[in-house]
Amino acid sequence: MIHCVCNNINTAKVDEAAHAGACRPKDVLAHHGKAFNCGQCKGSIAERLSCHANRGLILAVSSRQDIALIAAE
Ligand code: FES
Repeated sequence: MIHCVCNNINTAKVDEAAHAGACRPKDVLAHHGKAFNCGQCKGSIAERLSCHANRGLILAVSSRQDIALIAAE
């Protein structure tokens, strides 16, 4: 899926930037050496980034549960 038509930023490029630490749409574009033109993509990129943020939270909670289980044994 193309998120940013102006800069040809697709889902794979958003994911790549997220894995490199991008947490805001402008970080995603900066990761690829781009900047906003029309700005129509901000919502779409932000939504994709929220998927990564939610996934990280689940993994963090899951890790703490693992630690708790290990400590309780
Ligand atoms: S669609 Fe991203 S800046 Fe225009």
